[in-house]
Amino acid sequence: MKFTVVTILPELVEPALTAGVVGRAREAGVITVGTVNPRDFTSDRHRTVDDSPYGGGPGMVMKPEPLLAAIAQAAGDPPARRILLSPAGAPLTQARVRELAQLPHLVLVCGRYEGIDERVIEIAIDEEISLGDYVLSGGELGALVIIDACARLVPGVLGEPTSADEESHSAGLLEYPQYTRPAKLGEREVPAVLQSGNHALIAAWRRQQSLLRTAARRPDLFARVRPTKADAKLLPPPLVERTHLALVHHPVTDRTGKLVTTSLTNFDIHDLARSTMTYGLAAYHVVTPITSQREKAEHIANLWLVDQGANLPRKPPKTGSRATALALVRTQDAIETVIAELTGEYGMAPFVVATSARSDSFPGIPRCTPDQLRAEASIRPEPLLILLGTGWGLADHLIPSVSRLLAPIEGRADWNHLSVRSAGAILLDRLFGRPA
Ligand SMILES: C[S@@+](CC[C@H](N)C(=O)[O-])C[C@H]1O[C@@H](n2cnc3c(N)ncnc32)[C@H](O)[C@@H]1O
Repeated sequence: MKFTVVTILPELVEPALTAGVVGRAREAGVITVGTVNPRDFTSDRHRTVDDSPYGGGPGMVMKPEPLLAAIAQAAGDPPARRILLSPAGAPLTQARVRELAQLPHLVLVCGRYEGIDERVIEIAIDEEISLGDYVLSGGELGALVIIDACARLVPGVLGEPTSADEESHSAGLLEYPQYTRPAKLGEREVPAVLQSGNHALIAAWRRQQSLLRTAARRPDLFARVRPTKADAKLLPPPLVERTHLALVHHPVTDRTGKLVTTSLTNFDIHDLARSTMTYGLAAYHVVTPITSQREKAEHIANLWLVDQGANLPRKPPKTGSRATALALVRTQDAIETVIAELTGEYGMAPFVVATSARSDSFPGIPRCTPDQLRAEASIRPEPLLILLGTGWGLADHLIPSVSRLLAPIEGRADWNHLSVRSAGAILLDRLFGRPA
């Protein structure tokens, strides 16, 4: 594979290509790297490659003529892919590196100063690549990154042909933790499974670590992973299937901050049951200490489940009907009862998350966004219990039971009085909705 770097600072590029994997690959002739300097295509005494920007502003811009001539010479033969390193380009990914490594020749154009004349991009650049959302003083380091990342995928460059396959990003996952001798470093021991010699167990452990690490550190990548059937055994059950929503009528506050018990509304039972069903949660708990209110909730739910005339159960509800949604409704007298029931059901206490419209609620409890919560709770084994408050919100009395507070949902206006049904639906969509 051939790389040609178009740069006014070849002395920055050359030394970085002499050692390590890339250096050996060059020596072995598996890759070749050359440079072309736009200064060699100038005609004035000072070999000028920059000029001031049209429209004014700070800094200088690279002149088009020397750059175009340098790119034309660099591209030569075989036909090359001409890439400009630019902070405005598409972020470099391992998937793109894999595609680029298939090509015979890359021309890597390095900007300097404030960048290059836009017409050079229109005339002579096939794609723009960025290293990340920060600004470097030139494209040379980016060119070296592309050379390094591509070169190690070229057959014959890495000792073991499979070693690039298992690395971070190669299958959309981060790599599992690696260890070498000694087996014990102070208090820290290499996981026993890696010392077992059982290759099937080691492979399963490594896959599990990759999945858990990706879910914890890069939820954006994990969201795109389609776990296989074998993966499902290595991960906790899908989060949504062990997520419970609770609508709390006590302890909540009124507008003055006083502790109160609110009364149930028919809408809250129906609409949140339907959201619970739509997003595939395990259950919806209506929590009130008032017995008659719990009976009312059960009655409303049962209206859909029992044939009123004959007082007989209706036919099993059709999947997706309102009755299946209301079958998810459970009533309890207190949050503590919900927690105790879930602890019995799952064999471990739930991970409890509060919600609030105010950012100063639940002092001392760590805040999280829906993405952060999904990432964390997906790899924790416990059921997830999300508390929605009625009235003016959940009371801080619940602090001892709560592990996280979800960031308030905010619109564009200063007015923030979503109904609990709307807030619940928005949160469930942010946590579990499929991207459009
Ligand atoms: C100082 S930068 C110019 C930044 C430009 N004024 C802008 O705001 O987009 C000079 C050159 O460094 C290179 N460069 C800077 N940041 C980069 C990044 N994040 N990825 C790739 N190349 C970068 C580009 O070749 C760029 O033309």
